[in-house]
Amino acid sequence: MFSGSLRGRLLWWLLLPLAAFVSISAVISYRFAQTTADVMQDNALLSSMRIIGEDIDWDNGSVSIQIPPAALELFESPEQDSVFYRVEASGHRLLAGSPDLTLPTHVSDRPTLYSTRLGDGREARAVAYVRQLYDSGRTEEVIVAVAKTEGSRDAMVWRLLRPQLSSEVLTLVLAMVFVYLGLTFELLPLMKVKDDVADRNASQLEPIRVARLHVELRPIVEAINQCIARMGQQAATQRQFISDAAHQLRTPLALLAAQIQFARQRDNRDASLAEALAGMHKSSRKLTTLTNKLLLLAQAESAAPSNARERIDLSALIAGVLEELIAFAQSREIDLGAELEDGLYVTGDEALTAALVTNLVDNALRYTQAGGHVTVHTQRRGDMAIVRVIDNGPGIRAEARERVFERFYRASGHVEGTGLGLPIVREIAHRQGGTVRLESNDGGAGLVATVEMRLWMAAN
Ligand SMILES: Nc1ncnc2c1ncn2[C@@H]1O[C@H](COP(=O)(O)OP(=O)(O)OP(=O)(O)O)[C@@H](O)[C@H]1O
Ligand SMILES: [Mg+2]
Repeated sequence: MFSGSLRGRLLWWLLLPLAAFVSISAVISYRFAQTTADVMQDNALLSSMRIIGEDIDWDNGSVSIQIPPAALELFESPEQDSVFYRVEASGHRLLAGSPDLTLPTHVSDRPTLYSTRLGDGREARAVAYVRQLYDSGRTEEVIVAVAKTEGSRDAMVWRLLRPQLSSEVLTLVLAMVFVYLGLTFELLPLMKVKDDVADRNASQLEPIRVARLHVELRPIVEAINQCIARMGQQAATQRQFISDAAHQLRTPLALLAAQIQFARQRDNRDASLAEALAGMHKSSRKLTTLTNKLLLLAQAESAAPSNARERIDLSALIAGVLEELIAFAQSREIDLGAELEDGLYVTGDEALTAALVTNLVDNALRYTQAGGHVTVHTQRRGDMAIVRVIDNGPGIRAEARERVFERFYRASGHVEGTGLGLPIVREIAHRQGGTVRLESNDGGAGLVATVEMRLWMAAN
């Protein structure tokens, strides 16, 4: 039971001894209530017996008795017990009452209290004694016995026990409720740690905060933090390697491109050589682009997370990007426009944010057919800035819209590319606390790439 739940197990450990305590205490209370009720019942029987005994007298030389009502009124109760008595002179001469009431084996002038069973099988409590009567030298021994059923006695036991039992059960229930609430409350920090870990993406490698944690939980979280730190180091080493490799590749690649260019200019009489050189030139350009994108991806991955606090004027940044791409747009005969809301300041790394916008607009220009339109639109929504890059090109099939964010995945073979543009965009957006999504253009053909970025005010 509760094997999987810490709260359940702790509750169990507390309830078990508490329940044992309450049970023992209930048994003790029951015994005490019984004793008290017995004493009260026996006292009433003794009093009744004495009242009857006092009223036996000589009458014309023989003993006689009138049972006084007070002797029986003593037993009046809501439970309406049956009361029996038996008054007997020497020689079993019955003076009053019922001969069926059993007498104890030995009766003396000291009252004997005993339990008996009535003719109808009911349990009864009884008392009996012998009274000696003297009259002008004669002695008469009269036995007086009184019995009553035990209804009022049992009711009294219950009346005495009930408040005690109620308070014990109440204690048990209250203990359960408070312990349950207390445990729930005290386990909240642990749940927070769980949420903190569960909500992270693979690149969030900051340590879990231990400040508000219980002392008992700290070693566990510190061990997890050490593990996270080792993973972070490993990831950083890998990123550094890619970044270094890309850096190292850039110089020889630039050299190679220059040499090819030089060779092409020098001798263009041999057509096949010119063709080979043109091929080499193209390959070296592709290699350069790939290296640059790998470098950008490595930079995006190693950028400080969303708390990198640069204040970026979004409209100015986008205008700058569009200015750089306008020549490309013209070469592709695409109408490149913008609808920018002023005064939008976002938080993040300026160079990376520019790379994000560049990649999206570059895609739109690259994949949209000649004569198409590409518009960049910005808008404020709550504490986020929304950037939309809208084109009327071929768009991306719904099933491929998630896959295009995978590294090196490409959906269109006829246009050149590395397949790293959108992964870079997503990495930068996430790093800066934002999101990116691709949707089809409402107006029909085309793609809308929407990026949400945290506004400067909201982030600080
Ligand atoms: N605006 C767009 N319209 C149509 N298809 C698009 C658009 N943007 C991206 N795609 C598709 O998504 C794929 C992935 O884009 P991504 O930018 O990641 O790589 P790429 O453009 O192929 O290469 P590069 O690394 O040079 O950007 C592209 O190959 C293309 O098929
Ligand atoms: Mg691209």
